[in-house]
Amino acid sequence: MEALRAVGALRGRAAEFMLDVGPESGLFLNTLVRSARARTVLEVGGSVGYSTLWLAEAVRATGGRVYSIEPVDGKRAEQRANLRAAGLEDVVELTACEAPELVPALPAPLDLVLLDHWKELYVRDFEACWPAVAPGGLVVADNILTPKKNAAVIAGYRRHLAGLSDARSQVVSVGAGLEVTVKCEDRLIDERSTPAAPSVSPVTPATPRDGGPPR
Ligand SMILES: C[S@@+](CC[C@H](N)C(=O)[O-])C[C@H]1O[C@@H](n2cnc3c(N)ncnc32)[C@H](O)[C@@H]1O
Repeated sequence: MEALRAVGALRGRAAEFMLDVGPESGLFLNTLVRSARARTVLEVGGSVGYSTLWLAEAVRATGGRVYSIEPVDGKRAEQRANLRAAGLEDVVELTACEAPELVPALPAPLDLVLLDHWKELYVRDFEACWPAVAPGGLVVADNILTPKKNAAVIAGYRRHLAGLSDARSQVVSVGAGLEVTVKCEDRLIDERSTPAAPSVSPVTPATPRDGGPPR
């Protein structure tokens, strides 16, 4: 809770943070990480750390780690200070690396990727991440519905997703609009390590001794 109070305080500090994902998407991302028990999370576009805080607060619970890319040194320094103030610095690694260079060096597979940087780079960086995304893993992209100035580039990103045979994707109307893409494989379980669910014997409904409830 302390960490989430820090998220609210960060957002309140300056108008520059209006470029952040906002509280609805922050909470949604935090919920996705927790419900998927995501352990390896990559954020592309960390800025001063608003979305990073939401992701980090969740991976602290899953025992995971957030890898966050922010190329601007000053922003990254501020991001680090904000994480430290929230007590979350130990679960996040910050880097200025481009996604195509970073992803091969990460502990695969990726459980969740957040794309929230320059929209022209969404397709390139989606492609850099996708082979490393776990079956059932997620890529979430921000600013799908707003601002409208990005509409043509976002349409290109969505067309790209529509052409993939191993992805199922939809827009979720949360915050500025999130495209949530899940990696689909025919079977999401490892049959060697997952025992089959026990079969249940048919249950005969009990006959009420007193003839059942009054009609
Ligand atoms: C919209 S802001 C991110 C906001 C952040 N996700 C949040 O919600 O607090 C976009 C950020 O992407 C960064 N960026 C620009 N090019 C990038 C790249 N090639 N890889 C990763 N981040 C990049 C920018 O410096 C900027 O800080």
